[in-house]
Amino acid sequence: MSTREQWGTRAGFIMAAVGSAIGLGNIWRFPATAYENGGGAFFIPYLFALLTAGIPLLILEFTVGHKYRGSSPLNFSRMNKKAEWVGWWGVVIAFIISTYYSVIVAWAISYTVFSFNLAWGEDTEAFLYGDYLQLADGAGQIGGLVPSVLIPLALVWIVALGVLFRGVQKGIEMANRVFIPTLVVMFLIIVLRAVTLPGALEGLQAFFEPDFKAITSGEVWVAAYGQIFFSLSIAFAIMITYSSYLPKESDITNNAFITGFSNSSFELLAGIGVFAALGFMASQSGLEVKEVVEGGVGLAFVVFPQIINEFPALNGLFGVLFFVSLVLAGLSSLISISETYVKGFSEKLGISRQTSVLIGGGLAALISLLYATRGGLYFLDAADYFINQFGVALVGLVEVVAIAWFMRKLDTLKNHANLTSDIKIGGFWKFCLGIITPLVLGYMMFDLFKQNLLREFDTDTGNYEGYSDIFINYSGWAVALFALVVGILLSVIRWKNKEKLDKEAM
Ligand code: PHE
Repeated sequence: MSTREQWGTRAGFIMAAVGSAIGLGNIWRFPATAYENGGGAFFIPYLFALLTAGIPLLILEFTVGHKYRGSSPLNFSRMNKKAEWVGWWGVVIAFIISTYYSVIVAWAISYTVFSFNLAWGEDTEAFLYGDYLQLADGAGQIGGLVPSVLIPLALVWIVALGVLFRGVQKGIEMANRVFIPTLVVMFLIIVLRAVTLPGALEGLQAFFEPDFKAITSGEVWVAAYGQIFFSLSIAFAIMITYSSYLPKESDITNNAFITGFSNSSFELLAGIGVFAALGFMASQSGLEVKEVVEGGVGLAFVVFPQIINEFPALNGLFGVLFFVSLVLAGLSSLISISETYVKGFSEKLGISRQTSVLIGGGLAALISLLYATRGGLYFLDAADYFINQFGVALVGLVEVVAIAWFMRKLDTLKNHANLTSDIKIGGFWKFCLGIITPLVLGYMMFDLFKQNLLREFDTDTGNYEGYSDIFINYSGWAVALFALVVGILLSVIRWKNKEKLDKEAM
């Protein structure tokens, strides 16, 4: 009998995995990405990416977690001592993501409060960058801490680390059982209201109108793969860690399908809700939908407040529903991201979960303060840009190549998954991971290097939109390189008590 922590129920694990997958990426990244990359036609590369990379990799990560029963670095070292750094690399990237992801959740908490009296006023852009973030004049400046960000940020960390502190069943599982159903209900209410607003139809038309020419471009395929990786939380040690808490007799492949399809359904729902709302806003201001489309920070914190201002009734209530949805989606993902290093450190250093939460989580919280300064948004953008561009594809590529080609583990893993799963995997799964995924990700990397190394930099400095490209580029590279170096360094440290870990996992 394993003495390692475990999920209490199958539904608990699925909620947690879905909670990790559904995040800011679904709500603010997917709608704009789909729209810009062919609209309705984007579903072709998107579904292709989901079926040939997303779900196969999810099955791979679930199997690795279930079979080797440890944190991601421990599992990689169990597969092959020389591969441990791959696990740590993902963990370090997850650590970096957690430092800024938490800040966005903090903003969403503030905006929940602002919703009550529509405190953002008419000029929502000036409110965000000026009144709320008190943005510094140029990139690279730090400026003082912004108290209105600091307070919700402290709250975010208290909740996330509090949940992790309580452990797998009492903490992570319980939190997700509450967060995810609540999120789905709240979001459904928003979407139902959004599609019944005047102008919604034009928004949906803009979203779904297929541009079939777009899918002949490599870029669109790259965007589809990028979206799937980010959205499913794969390649960052997250799903490996979560599945390491599965009891021995658990199903693997069916759980991966459920997780993958739930996440994509939510993504589609978000696309419908966001574009219905954008259509409504366009019709209110006499603009075309394409003039109001936005993603990321601008969508959530500039455009949505405007939309909420325009709502015919119950504006405050819809503001609260929207921003609480962001908070719940973000928190459940933040918890999963942070669990990677909490478990990794705890196993490596032989310390308890609670100590690891205090040290690892505490360190992440401390670093996140950088983004709560007046220059925070510049740093956040730089970190996010490179995680999106390089983190996702590069770590994913190294992971599949290491497992499929260097360690040649696909057959072993396939047999392991088939032992306990309803849906059996075979040659097609191996083909997806051994051939298609490395080829597509390899092409993605090549394309990105070409774009980033060969392009001419825009040397503008100054205000937010036109700030230095050079800053974002160099600090981004620094972050990417730093993650790799720290990952390698961590893999050289000795495991504190390997026999105990091995016994626990038996
Ligand atoms: N998948 C989640 C999202 O879409 C969380 C996540 C973000 C996980 C980034 C890994 C990396 O927001």
